[in-house]
Amino acid sequence: MSETFFPQDWKRTHFCGEPRKELIGQEVILNGWVAQRRDLGKLVFLVLRDKTGKSQLVVDTSKNKRLDELTKGIRHEYVLAIKGRVRARPADQVNTEVATGEIEIEAEDIAVLNTCDVLPFPITDKSDATESLRLQYRYLDMRRDVIRENILARGKLVRLLREEMHKAGFEDIETPFLYKSTPEGAREFLVPSRINPGYFYALPQSPQLFKQILMIAGFDRYYQIVKCFRDEDLRADRQPEFTQLDCEMSFVDQEDVLTIFTDIVKRTVNTFFTRDVIGEIPRMTYQQAMDTYGVDKPDTRFGLKLVDLSKLVKDSEFKVFTEAVEKKGIVNALRVQGQGETFSRKRIEDLETAIRPYGAKGLAFAKVKSGQGKESWQSSLTKFLSDELINIINKTTEAKPGDLLLFCAGPYQTVKAGLGALRNALGKELHLYDTRELNFLWVTDFPLLEKGDDGRFIAMHHPFTCPNEEDLALLETDPENVRAKAYDLVCNGVELGGGSIRIHLERIQEKIFSLLGLTKEEAEKKFGFLLKALKFGAPPHGGIAFGVDRFAMLLTGCEAIRDIIPFPKTQKQACLMTGSPAPTSEKALRELYISVLKEEVEKAGISKHA
Ligand code: AMO
Ligand code: AMP
Repeated sequence: MSETFFPQDWKRTHFCGEPRKELIGQEVILNGWVAQRRDLGKLVFLVLRDKTGKSQLVVDTSKNKRLDELTKGIRHEYVLAIKGRVRARPADQVNTEVATGEIEIEAEDIAVLNTCDVLPFPITDKSDATESLRLQYRYLDMRRDVIRENILARGKLVRLLREEMHKAGFEDIETPFLYKSTPEGAREFLVPSRINPGYFYALPQSPQLFKQILMIAGFDRYYQIVKCFRDEDLRADRQPEFTQLDCEMSFVDQEDVLTIFTDIVKRTVNTFFTRDVIGEIPRMTYQQAMDTYGVDKPDTRFGLKLVDLSKLVKDSEFKVFTEAVEKKGIVNALRVQGQGETFSRKRIEDLETAIRPYGAKGLAFAKVKSGQGKESWQSSLTKFLSDELINIINKTTEAKPGDLLLFCAGPYQTVKAGLGALRNALGKELHLYDTRELNFLWVTDFPLLEKGDDGRFIAMHHPFTCPNEEDLALLETDPENVRAKAYDLVCNGVELGGGSIRIHLERIQEKIFSLLGLTKEEAEKKFGFLLKALKFGAPPHGGIAFGVDRFAMLLTGCEAIRDIIPFPKTQKQACLMTGSPAPTSEKALRELYISVLKEEVEKAGISKHA
């Protein structure tokens, strides 16, 4: 097949998704890819696709010998320019599923602009191709309507966010990528400096300190749509490089930030869908979220709340319960409505296995029947609990005949984490919510500090977060119970954004560094530039950052952020299309004064990307 370059007179008059009844009788030129080819002998139908949609072309092979010859050679994903006249489809062939389904284009001429190799997988909405094959040929994957629409929706979201930020008086300011270190809690990607041998930059985990410096510089309201880099274990909603809408404001307190961003998020989402999806965004404290949902990012589309039974069962005969409470732990229950009959013992054992990774030691259960006291439970616990206690538990959990009660006892964090995860899994499995719903929530009053594995304090948000004024005295006596002026925006159980009011006083910043176990010298070495800047008239300030990929994922209903990122990385942080990361040459390494520990590399067993 001989391809044509691209003569002037073959340039499109319309996009493929545009022709409608109004164009009937007119001649159009379309440029695009062959999405479908149906050969009925006398008639050949070609569906041409571009980013806007698809149009159907009809070639009457009996009329034109040259076109007959040409169409015989045309295959899926060939790039064509077509000329033809728009006509109405016969009534029985109207396709209501596509926007151009009422018309078709009677081909007058076709130019083949390029051919296409045999495809590694068909370009269809539902694809059986493995994700790694799709990522290797991401350009073909992105020709699929679903992925293309996701990517375009993401672009639309970014445009709307920018518009809202400008309307609210935020200035668009860039910050560098080659930088020191930002303590957001993940590992960093290092970049060696060639002209400073032995020195390294770190790619920013976020522009946190720069945006604070911009407030000290007097810009008052800053925003940036910016890449952030974090070397962490990947999950469905995590990528090693991802995009933030990063924001900071001066002369504000927490209430101002929450009000302004409630408004911005509301307007963005409602404009995106051109209807009122969000009204008000409710609020909940961290403590309420943990108590009720077991996680700090609760999915509030469904109930299935954790019920605390600690006080009720503390004097019972069931050792597992009483010992947990004696050791300052808790006993919580989940009432799974109507699943008493459906969940087999094996299924409940699987649930127990599922919560073990969270440290939970077991999961007791009761199948609720009609009747009172022990009679109302089918459970091994009836041996240990009195009729009266069983009645009280039924009442407290609002258990009805046919329900399943699940119990977990142990330390607070373990029980909450285990049942919180179980709640999310059951919500999904039992279809307890409408997947199209978007349920936003502000979570506030996070603790300032948490204990790391080594028993030392780490900042729950980051070390620049301002403690709550009311709790300042506790910094000396009971740091663990100091609340922070920190907040998260949660949607459908996903952390969509997080931020805080910052410390603008040097003495408080120094105090926090010391609580975090940083000596004066270490603090000076790492963040001296910030401590210095705080001495030069730093205004009170605070801000927030939203995960743009997660935002787009939620608005499009995708399950993974990989589906909303044009060129995502795999679990192993690899780009399968370009084959990165990759080894580099000895020469390049030498220039950077770096040598690779070959033996160690072999031991680590890293060979090919997956
Ligand atoms: P935080 O670390 O909470 O805050 O990040 C803000 C938001 O960024 C998104 N996000 C991610 N998205 C995809 N992949 C990742 N690996 C990833 N990590 C985070 C989340 C998260 O809510 N500097 C502070 C913000 C501030 O205090 O203003 C910060 O980065 O949606
Ligand atoms: P065991 O004493 O290990 O034989 O457990 C007796 C019952 O108590 C089993 O149904 C366990 O699943 C349950 N169980 C054990 N540990 C816990 C716990 N920490 N919380 C709730 N139930 C538990």
